[in-house]
Amino acid sequence: MAKEWTPSSWRNLPIEQVPDYPDPHALARTEERLKSFPPLVFAGEARKLKKSLGEVAQGRAFLLQGGDCAESFAEHGADNIRDFFRAFLQMAVVLTFAGSKPVVKVGRIAGQFAKPRSSNSETKDGKTLPSYRGDIINGIDFDEGSRIPDPERQVAAYRQSAATLNLLRAFAQGGYANLENVHKWTLGFVAGSPEAERYGRIADRITETIDFMSAIGINAQNHRSLQETDFYTSHEALLLGYEEALTRQDSTSKGDWFATSGHMIWIGDRTRQEDHAHIEYCSGIENPIGLKCGPSMDPDGLIRILDKLNPSNEPGRMTLITRFGHDQVDRHLPALIDAVEREGRSVVWSCDPMHGNTISQNNYKTRPFERILAEVEAFFTVHNAKGTYPGGIHIEMTGKDVTECIGGARPVLPENLSDRYHTHCDPRLNANQALELAFLLAEHLKSDAAGSSREAQKAAAE
Ligand code: TRP
Ligand code: MN
Repeated sequence: MAKEWTPSSWRNLPIEQVPDYPDPHALARTEERLKSFPPLVFAGEARKLKKSLGEVAQGRAFLLQGGDCAESFAEHGADNIRDFFRAFLQMAVVLTFAGSKPVVKVGRIAGQFAKPRSSNSETKDGKTLPSYRGDIINGIDFDEGSRIPDPERQVAAYRQSAATLNLLRAFAQGGYANLENVHKWTLGFVAGSPEAERYGRIADRITETIDFMSAIGINAQNHRSLQETDFYTSHEALLLGYEEALTRQDSTSKGDWFATSGHMIWIGDRTRQEDHAHIEYCSGIENPIGLKCGPSMDPDGLIRILDKLNPSNEPGRMTLITRFGHDQVDRHLPALIDAVEREGRSVVWSCDPMHGNTISQNNYKTRPFERILAEVEAFFTVHNAKGTYPGGIHIEMTGKDVTECIGGARPVLPENLSDRYHTHCDPRLNANQALELAFLLAEHLKSDAAGSSREAQKAAAE
């Protein structure tokens, strides 16, 4: 860590994944402008999220984090936001019921624009151009002009984030998130699913629970908690100049610094080098921080990163998002858990079952649904064996009926991939696949929750 942290102290350190802006003065001018814009989120909200994640770290809540791999300027519309939010809330209801615990809801949305790339350039038909790095940096079209990083895109991303967040806040608090309605949508999904009987077992129990509550006088009309929900935003904090410009001092506290580009930010698997810029930047802000942990994460290195990012071991500060691939969880996860347990660190363990399961089919990047499910199952199995708490999932999903991941109950086949393959980056679960994943996880969570509550009842009766 640099001797004294400031929002710009990361600039003195080595850094990966930096776009090559042709005009550094134009970039600096844009960053100055961004500094004068209002924050997108405020400190109190980020603090509240951290507290909720603290509950997850202690096994009393579950984290659902999901959204686009990369948001795009082209797909910015009310329908997309609404459909995403609907699918996400449906998942949340199923998981809340299944785990008998609150679900902390965090979208990969309203700021998820910058993408790390494995290569700086891309070659197509003999032509080589700089890689696409997300709409906040350059354009996806394969022509020279589009691929030149343009600082003005940061302003466009900021404004899109503000508009997206505005609608999400309205949906979350204005009646759209009404639990009874959300469950009705789910019943519609179940009725139309080839797995109606299987998913119906859980859906019917949710219906009974809602009916029971209503019979005893608890309904969405007289209980705000059924009518609305807390929804938070998150993104990868990759483009540090943008993050710095939106880093603000909280006037209500002792002057703590917060990233105000989103409630939670995470550090990618490619930019988590201990003495580099991204860790430095995140070490000085108070937001909850995610850390992607891939197969190359070394257990002792992880502890050193935790020393830097969470020296006071505050619960809820750190979420470790593991992403190994469905057949690699057993090989890599246990050693990370052992190190964290040995050192007594409080973390949220979350599973990203997307990024380790990307394959190529018919010239499309895709992910088989059953591998996604298998990685989450392996994650649960390892944690259950270690006695640690599998606290959440982190997925790439959309509310639309895209054909990007293969499989599911009404399967997307490899030959269907070209039908509606819309992602700007990695393949996402479509709305049905996402909800299906929630139902399949629910079966696991339900048996765990039933086991532990029976134990507690037995203990109380003795
Ligand atoms: N307020 C509660 C919660 O957020 C219950 C709730 C209301 C809810 N609407 C929801 C839960 C939609 C999930 C999805 O948990
Ligand atoms: Mn991705």
